[in-house]
Amino acid sequence: MGIALVRALLLLSGMAALSESAHSGGERDDKAVYEAVCGSCHPTSLAGGLRSEREWKETIAAMVRLGAAATEEEFARVLRYLVRTQTKVNVNSATAKEIASVLDISETSAKALVARRTEKRGFRTLEDLKEAPGVEASKIEARKDRIVFR
Ligand code: HEC
Repeated sequence: MGIALVRALLLLSGMAALSESAHSGGERDDKAVYEAVCGSCHPTSLAGGLRSEREWKETIAAMVRLGAAATEEEFARVLRYLVRTQTKVNVNSATAKEIASVLDISETSAKALVARRTEKRGFRTLEDLKEAPGVEASKIEARKDRIVFR
């Protein structure tokens, strides 16, 4: 394994650990870090689209291989910012954890959502999600462009 790859993998595991302890530091700070880290080689508009959480992790790892430099905490903030603002989630295949971070609901609510998904053999509409216990309809509505069903 190349040094760059090892470094990218270490960063990713660090990011995972740090995003567990999310909610420390505001969204504003995350945005500033994102702009500083990801805007240093190209405009951040290059990263303007929606991707899944996994795809963003891969993108960040690719940028590290291209020379992006930041601390583990900064990369964790970059990922958190992207997950909160530019990440799409397939509510029929994502894990509870992925659903929780994109929809900004607790992991307990997300687990309940996954149980309901199994029970209902999948969600078909936004209404299905809004009706689920522990989910605020307004949060679903606010993220409707980022929720995919297949
Ligand atoms: C060291 C310079 C550098 C930094 C810092 C950097 N990038 Fe890039 N990025 C590049 C280069 C060079 C390309 C074009 C090469 C390519 O397309 O693979 C690129 C292309 C991209 C693309 C388009 C290609 C793709 O993967 O779809 C995205 C999205 C992107 N960067 C996101 C980011 C994000 C997010 C960050 C912050 C973590 C970041 N970049 C930080 C150098 C950088």
